[in-house]
Amino acid sequence: TIERTFSIVKPDAVKRNLIGAIYNRIEKAGLRVVAAKMIRMDADKAKGFYAEHEGKPFFDDLVAFMTSGPVMVQVLEGDNAVVRYRELMGKTNPEEAACGTLRADYALSLRHNSVHGADSPESAAREIAYFFADDEMCSRD
Ligand code: CMP
Repeated sequence: TIERTFSIVKPDAVKRNLIGAIYNRIEKAGLRVVAAKMIRMDADKAKGFYAEHEGKPFFDDLVAFMTSGPVMVQVLEGDNAVVRYRELMGKTNPEEAACGTLRADYALSLRHNSVHGADSPESAAREIAYFFADDEMCSRD
């Protein structure tokens, strides 16, 4: 089934000029970009996005990092997009990420891990709505 997922190219990757490299890998994996924009999150926006992690020891550093520079946010569409994009990213910790995944190839550390992806279709719907209006997405069918 055709599904949508939510993705972020994080500040560490934008700073290293890796937007195109990451989009290339997304498209080569058969996923289609149906919405995209560059934004700089403020602390409230980042805290709301990561609300499920509030209270965890890494929360403040995570918010500081995600507001440290611009990010690319995008909606990806394709068959089984949530799971397929997670496979393309690899595990959260780049030291555990499989060869050939985005995090194995580009991430610098657990915090500076280059990309985010929704972990379920429910998270994807919530995260997409947090950044995009319906009329900002273009179906690619
Ligand atoms: P992300 O997929 O954006 O979701 C939450 C982020 O928190 C995660 O990627 C990591 O970058 C970061 N993170 C998760 N666990 C830790 C941790 N133990 N220490 C530091 N950062 C973490």
